[in-house]
This record gives sequence, structure tokens and C-alpha cells, in this order.
Amino acid sequence: MIQVRALTKSIDTGTHRVDILKGIDLEIPKGQFAAIMGPSGSGKSTLLGLLAGLDFPTSGQVLLDGEDITRLSEDDMALLRGRKIGFVFQSYHLLPTLTAEENVVLPMELAGNATGGRERARELLDRVGLKGRFDHYPVQLSGGEQQRVALARAFALRPPILLADEPTGNLDSATGKVVLDLLLALNREQGATMVLVTHEQALAESADRRIVLHDGLVVSQ
Ligand SMILES: Nc1ncnc2c1ncn2[C@@H]1O[C@H](COP(=O)(O)OP(=O)(O)O)[C@@H](O)[C@H]1O
Ligand SMILES: [Mg+2]
Repeated sequence: MIQVRALTKSIDTGTHRVDILKGIDLEIPKGQFAAIMGPSGSGKSTLLGLLAGLDFPTSGQVLLDGEDITRLSEDDMALLRGRKIGFVFQSYHLLPTLTAEENVVLPMELAGNATGGRERARELLDRVGLKGRFDHYPVQLSGGEQQRVALARAFALRPPILLADEPTGNLDSATGKVVLDLLLALNREQGATMVLVTHEQALAESADRRIVLHDGLVVSQ
């Protein structure tokens, strides 16, 4: 369960103050698949970053299973993120010096949980249709393949919460469909709570719920 209370984020650009999020209240129950929509610049990525504890709010709270993550130190947040959150970036963020398999094993190693890691990584890569690509480096993979590696990596630790920022934004529609089907299957099988930022109608329609942001506020949900 994700609870967001009176969440604001403002930044000081040096010359003026920008209010990016102006008071967001949300409750996303366990297992729900929520789509966040809204025009470019409405604050979607900022909100997702706050849900992941990748950034600090100006005020307000983000509670994951009742725990206010905005009060955690960076170290404690990193530990909690490892236990609870998988994050998929629009631009993949794979490590270029690691193979597909090594990229997926990495979070398991960082969590001190790498026993059977190679097998789990291969099983996940197989699942996303990348059998035969285990030893490829990111530059040797297409955008769609890289995004599928990123997805396998996000699920490596079986996170109860999966956050994704426009995961199909850089993909052609056929590959986008493959990624969406995978997300749906993993949501169903693992009961993961999923929050996805998307512009895409097909993805939004597959969600249990659509949350629309406009100018830093939730305008419908
Ligand atoms: N570091 C920053 N400095 C200045 N403006 C920012 C910064 N981060 C975000 N913004 C502004 O905040 C608004 C919301 O950004 P963002 O959350 O990325 O929106 P979205 O993901 O909905 O397109 C945008 O107008 C953006 O320009
Ligand atoms: Mg964005």
C-alpha cells in the first residue's frame, strides 16, 4: 500500500521558485496497477521519483506499508528500495560495462542475495524473450531489448512495488505491447503494486486505475 499525503515539491532555480507538485494526496492499495497520466511538465516523473525515495519532497509524506520514507536517511532509503521497489526508467539506465545477465544479477548482488542469481537472471531474461542475449552488452541490444533487460532487472528481487516512468515511451508499438503484457503478467503473478507513468492509451486502458496530473495537482483519479 502506497499512501501519499499533502505532498509538495518546489525547487529554487536561483532566480525563482518553481512549484512542481502542489499538494498530492493518493492511496494506492496493494496489488493495484495504477497509470499516471497528464501532459508533459505536469509533475509525473517528479512524483514517481518521490514514491521511489530517489528525491526528497518539500513537504508532505510518502508511506510505504505505513512507513514514512521521507524521514529515512539515504542509507536506510537505499536498503528499503532494495527490499521493496523495482524502478524502470524511460531511458533504461543499464550499466554499459555489464552484460544483460550481469545487469540483472547486479541488484541481487547489491542486496547480498546473489545465490542462484545467475539462474534467476537467465530465467527472467528468457521470460522477456531474451534467451540467446545473456552475454550481450547494452550497445549490442536494440532499445526494446534494453528495456526488456531493465524490466528483468527491476523484477530481480521480486519487489512488492514496481514503479516505471514511460517504460514503453521509446519503443515501437509491437515491442511496447510485449513490455506491457510482461508487466501485466508479473503484476498478476507476483501481486506487485504497480505505478506506471504513461502517455499510451493501450497501457492506460490496461490499468486498474488512471490518475491524471495537471500542473502539479491530481485532477482526476
Ligand atoms: N531540476 C529541475 N529544475 C527546474 N525545473 C524542473 C526540474 N525538475 C523538474 N522541473 C520542472 O518541473 C515540471 C515537472 O517536471 P516532470 O516531473 O519531469 O514532469 P513530467 O514527467 O510530467 O513531464 C516541469 O515543468 C519541469 O520543467
Ligand atoms: Mg516525465
